[in-house]
Amino acid sequence: MKLCMIGTGYVGLVSGACFADLGNDVVCVDKDFNKINRLKNGVIPIYEPGLEELVKKNYNNKRLKFSTDLNKSVAKSNIIFICVGTPTKKNSNFADLSQIYKVTKEIRGSINKFKIIITKSTVPVTTGDQIEKIISKKKPKKLFSVVSNPEFLREGEAIRDFIYPDRIVIGTNNSRSNKILKNLYSPLISKGAKYINTSRRASELIKYASNSFLATKITFINEIANLCEKIGVDIEDISIGIGLDKRIGGRFLRAGPAYGGSCFPKDTKAIVTTGDKFKTNLSLIKSVIKSNQKRTSLMLDKVNEILKGRIKNKNISFLGVTFKANTDDMRDSSSLLMIPSLAKKGAKVNYYDPTGEKKIFKKIKNVTYCENINTAIRFSDLVIIHTEWNDFKSINFNSVIKKKNFIVYDLRNIYSHSKMKKDKINYFGVGR
Ligand code: UGA
Repeated sequence: MKLCMIGTGYVGLVSGACFADLGNDVVCVDKDFNKINRLKNGVIPIYEPGLEELVKKNYNNKRLKFSTDLNKSVAKSNIIFICVGTPTKKNSNFADLSQIYKVTKEIRGSINKFKIIITKSTVPVTTGDQIEKIISKKKPKKLFSVVSNPEFLREGEAIRDFIYPDRIVIGTNNSRSNKILKNLYSPLISKGAKYINTSRRASELIKYASNSFLATKITFINEIANLCEKIGVDIEDISIGIGLDKRIGGRFLRAGPAYGGSCFPKDTKAIVTTGDKFKTNLSLIKSVIKSNQKRTSLMLDKVNEILKGRIKNKNISFLGVTFKANTDDMRDSSSLLMIPSLAKKGAKVNYYDPTGEKKIFKKIKNVTYCENINTAIRFSDLVIIHTEWNDFKSINFNSVIKKKNFIVYDLRNIYSHSKMKKDKINYFGVGR
């Protein structure tokens, strides 16, 4: 099939490369000329394991193309995926849909025969209705069908999540589109993915409800972790103990810092706004947002407690600054609040991240990027493990760190308490 992905961000690029790998002809379109040029030369704008190889392979065998010409690319394709960003609007909780509507108008101009227009970006309920309204102002309804097909890809695991999805959700009442899309996804369905055809509005809501539920699950376990710290119970035992109940499920029950990234913070806010718009108080999700926002100050209080209120002039090392491991994405990472706050209190912060130095910390006094783990922690009073990269999982702290009585604060519970005790390391985890 001939597919056109509009927007070569995370969703568009990963989905485009994966669809090409399944044998489709895919053109990825972006208005950023430099980005498209770099992609043609095999330079991938994001860090995602396996993506570079997949892009190069499919670009070389000509199933994957890159273009800045939206009109020509749309005209040649049967299925158009809108994959542009829907960030939170400045100073509000609304999703900014300006890019969605802008490309909708551009697509409209190139509809020359029947096209399926899909929102893969996360869009609030009724956005599909709006897109349909905009296009039908200039094109007859028999020439197009607007469908919702949300993505459930995690950064760092995106290719695997694309190839082995739990489910594929298609929101349309148009049987012709449904048949074509079921065929497009048939290689994944035959490997066990469940295919769900529902209404467009339901599909849009499934995406928000999924992310909000996962954010709730994480926030729940984080609050139980707070209780565990007070009563001397290990949160890992609780996660296993409740997660083995199939009604609960064991995934997304890892306690840690505040959840971050480009999706959960944005989508929880947007669903609350949708609730308000339809006069429905989503009070549970509102509490989740609040609890998560407070979490970073709880972590900072804990640092203060660990260092007995003496943060000034302490050498603090931060391992991992992105919002989670296996990504270079800094969006809504709790390090963005923690590092400046510690530096402001007079700590000297050395940080290391496998995806390199971060521009945002360059201008902060007393914050230094180190090229490797050893340099970052050598003279540490306190090591904060912020993300769970494999690189951080077997550090020989005692042989690297020169300071006596150094402390390790492990925000991802990577290390076992008993091993650290055996090694005589002053160790703190989350919910332990
Ligand atoms: C999330 C969803 O998991 C994807 O299904 C969805 O497609 C994506 O958003 C999106 O809407 O595009 P992502 O933001 O890449 O994916 O990352 P997650 O792996 O879900 O992690 C989100 C946050 O939750 C991170 O800060 C992570 O550290 C935290 N988390 C996750 C925990 O603290 N504990 C857990 O057990 C799991």
